[in-house]
Amino acid sequence: MKTKKSALITGANKGIGLEIARQLGRLGYTVWLGCRDQQRGAQATAELQAEGLDARNLPLDVSSDDSVRKAAAQLDGLDVLVNNAGISLGMAESITRDSLDDMRTMLEVNALGPVRVTRAFLPLLRKSAEPRIVMMSSSLGSVSATLDISRGGWNVGYAGYSASKSALNMFTAKLAKELLAENFKVNAACPGFTATDLNAHTGFRTAQDGAAIAVRLATLDALGPTGGFFNDGHTAELNPLPW
Ligand SMILES: NC(=O)c1ccc[n+]([C@@H]2O[C@H](COP(=O)([O-])OP(=O)(O)OC[C@H]3O[C@@H](n4cnc5c(N)ncnc54)[C@H](OP(=O)(O)O)[C@@H]3O)[C@@H](O)[C@H]2O)c1
Repeated sequence: MKTKKSALITGANKGIGLEIARQLGRLGYTVWLGCRDQQRGAQATAELQAEGLDARNLPLDVSSDDSVRKAAAQLDGLDVLVNNAGISLGMAESITRDSLDDMRTMLEVNALGPVRVTRAFLPLLRKSAEPRIVMMSSSLGSVSATLDISRGGWNVGYAGYSASKSALNMFTAKLAKELLAENFKVNAACPGFTATDLNAHTGFRTAQDGAAIAVRLATLDALGPTGGFFNDGHTAELNPLPW
């Protein structure tokens, strides 16, 4: 069904973010591609426009107060915010050897970035009849799964990246509670292990697959969940993940 809603997707110049923008664009949304790298941002926006989608480039570095403030000033309303931008730094398999500088940078982009962007765009989202916020998290951010020896995550390292997504999960839960009295839906998504630049294209899912859960959560109806953490369980259904 076509809508005339608008969506902002951060980190939309490539990978999963670009696919989220494409899929929401195909549903009739005006899609704002929040892009730090302007050359890739212009290319990505032109690519979606050439497909007939209502795509617009929005310069946006989620780690910069100034950039986020300037981006928010360019819009007069917003229905959907997908906090997708994220980074993964370092390869150390041990938390005792992982670089503290890398951890700090990941916390800044992956955890504080979504908080910074959400705060700036909240007044615009509050103008929407059905505001939706999606946080692009990861199952690696699940503390329960990390401590479950029966799960694949038991042997996975990436402590800094994982902790940044755990922090994002907590911010998601807090935000969902804070906005409960309003008509927001605030949820965290895991795209699954998706072949993108983030993992040198070693993932087994496509960017289209990875985008699907965020699109589901971005387009929830009034009966949809809030304050949840989901993947798609490799089906079209929402599949709750342990926090
Ligand atoms: N791929 C996976 O298997 C996987 C699994 C679980 C979760 N995720 C999450 O999914 C999200 C998308 O990742 P991806 O796999 O699509 O990776 P990707 O292809 O590397 O894309 C990451 C995007 O984030 C942008 N970005 C990074 N730092 C930014 C900043 N400070 N401000 C604005 N944009 C910034 C990048 O822009 P630039 O071009 O400017 O660098 C790029 O557009 C991330 O949050 C990631 O943690 C991915």
